[in-house]
Amino acid sequence: MSWTRRKPMEAMTPQGGGHSMARTLSWPHLLALGVGAIVGTGILTLIGVGADRAGPAVLISFAIAGAICACAALAYAELSTMMPAAGSAYSYSYVVLGEGIAWIVGWSLILEYSLVVSTVAVGWSGYAAPLLTPLGFPEALTKGPELGGLINIPAIFIIGVVAALLMFGTRESARLNTLLVLIKIATLSLFVWVALPAFDAQHLEPFMPFGFAKHMGPDGIERGVMAAAAIIFFAFYGFDAISTAAEEAKNPDRDLAIGIVGSLIVCTLIYVLVAAAAVGAMPFTRFADSPEPLALILREMGQGSIARIVAIAAVIALPTVLLGFLYGQSRIFLVMARDGFLPQSLARISKRGTPARITAVTAVLVAVIAGVLPIDQIAALANAGTLIAFTAVGACLLILRRRAPDLKRPFRTPAATLVGLGAVLGCAYLFLSLPMKTIYACLIWNAIGLAVYFLYGQKRASAAR
Ligand code: ALA
Repeated sequence: MSWTRRKPMEAMTPQGGGHSMARTLSWPHLLALGVGAIVGTGILTLIGVGADRAGPAVLISFAIAGAICACAALAYAELSTMMPAAGSAYSYSYVVLGEGIAWIVGWSLILEYSLVVSTVAVGWSGYAAPLLTPLGFPEALTKGPELGGLINIPAIFIIGVVAALLMFGTRESARLNTLLVLIKIATLSLFVWVALPAFDAQHLEPFMPFGFAKHMGPDGIERGVMAAAAIIFFAFYGFDAISTAAEEAKNPDRDLAIGIVGSLIVCTLIYVLVAAAAVGAMPFTRFADSPEPLALILREMGQGSIARIVAIAAVIALPTVLLGFLYGQSRIFLVMARDGFLPQSLARISKRGTPARITAVTAVLVAVIAGVLPIDQIAALANAGTLIAFTAVGACLLILRRRAPDLKRPFRTPAATLVGLGAVLGCAYLFLSLPMKTIYACLIWNAIGLAVYFLYGQKRASAAR
């Protein structure tokens, strides 16, 4: 029965021949790849949505989402150093939980990685459009049909640029990524430096106006600290993209753990400061649900030129998130193609050592989504896919510790049972705190996935063995 068939652990070492990738990345590259993939639309835009859902208690939402992600990151660090293959949660699930669950996880990762790229590209376009339209760029070409436009050309454009960089070669892209990451950190630091001195504890009253658990408000929007945490969760992930670079890491044993755990620590520290500065600077209702909350806060403080700098820096640096996730997506497709779930011809590595074909296919798919779909709900659906993958990774950690306690673990997470349970239960709670519409959409996506598996993937995977 292939549904329960598990891959042997040895199969998780990279294959040779035309399918192996060049090892060009060391730990600073991986750390930058992580921070580059984590800091993005979540802190720049969704902080406003979070404040709308939870009030000043969005600070607790940040803490909850961060703590759950810390458990998931530790689980990722242990598993990715044990199995340094590019397929991330999909590959670990194939070894530990069996082919059927691995397929569901892979299918969920496709949802995560595609929709993050699409979301961030549309978010980028939101910042770029006000710079383009005064130059005569038609407004109808800056947003999708649901917002009254035709097609989102800037979003498609930025995906094309990032895809071209990735196809050109990993190290070249990683160097540029490091520079952009520094710009991003400098920008958020600038925000904190300007906004934090305006901190007024009165702006935190009432602290928790919408309660803790998710509940439907009279306006049809689900609110509460957990509802906000389920959205703010978007801001924290991205460290998982590092594990998809496992086959290109020079020294995966050490460097993957540094990259995964280190990038989450750096980002959590920055987020705590940014969130405290934001809710302390003014009543949350003034920036809640704004498409550009950080710039708005600065403008309202009379810091118009700093607000402009933040907006321009967002346009310059947001593509690092696209780079991290498009990179991860193409690697997951690659590994699923190797396993026979997708056409093998797609998995070919180009002369430059990158999976160029699969990068191009991925870019076209996510560009189509970004070109026509609205940004709201896409982020929540991306979170749903991610939460399924993180739950599986937590379960893999727990099961493998019991099934194979003596296996070599280059990185052993401390308090493994607590960490594993924290990831599994925490992600399940966050999943249930998502908007009901998103939960249904995710279930439909997985029903389609199961149909594809039973009608197509299962046979092809068996034939590929
Ligand atoms: N964490 C990434 C972001 O906030 C996905 O953009």
